[in-house]
Amino acid sequence: MEDEKIEVLLKGKEKIRILFVCLGNICRSPAAHGIMEKLIAESGKTGDIEIDSAGLYSGHAGELPDHRMRIHARRRGYELTHRSRPVKMSDFDDFDLIVGMDNSNYDRLRGFAPTVEAKDKVVRMIDFVNGFPQYDYVPDPYYEGSEGFELVLDMLEDGCGNMLRALRKG
Ligand code: 4NP
Repeated sequence: MEDEKIEVLLKGKEKIRILFVCLGNICRSPAAHGIMEKLIAESGKTGDIEIDSAGLYSGHAGELPDHRMRIHARRRGYELTHRSRPVKMSDFDDFDLIVGMDNSNYDRLRGFAPTVEAKDKVVRMIDFVNGFPQYDYVPDPYYEGSEGFELVLDMLEDGCGNMLRALRKG
């Protein structure tokens, strides 16, 4: 289902711009950002996909990702250097795909979308994740222990890999 939606959204585009969004932009979305950038670099084909991330809560603006997420990500080979920034209205023009980590992110992004076309750009990360059928969202690890961060990274590696395959197929 998501593959078909992606094909329609991205038809004829030379460059695809993806914005990953969570609440704080210090745990889940910067991790997705770093994972996807590494997957793109490893694929040997760069320049056709651009990645950014943002948060629906601006309280962490300017900060690096949460130190726990940076430690867990670094162990898997991802250096997370993005600085948190809030979602802005121009993002709905500037990006082709806006990916919410949980259902609250998704609903709020769709609520802010200024046009029907913009609303259609908003998708759920979990719809690209295959290996975790017990979840219908990527859970917030902020108040969790190490397992929460590892779980998020496992889910995002799964989902980003599938998303990249869907994008490159189109
Ligand atoms: P994130 O996690 O949305 O994955 O970046 C959170 C980070 C900070 C807060 C909530 C979630 N917070 O409330 O400060």
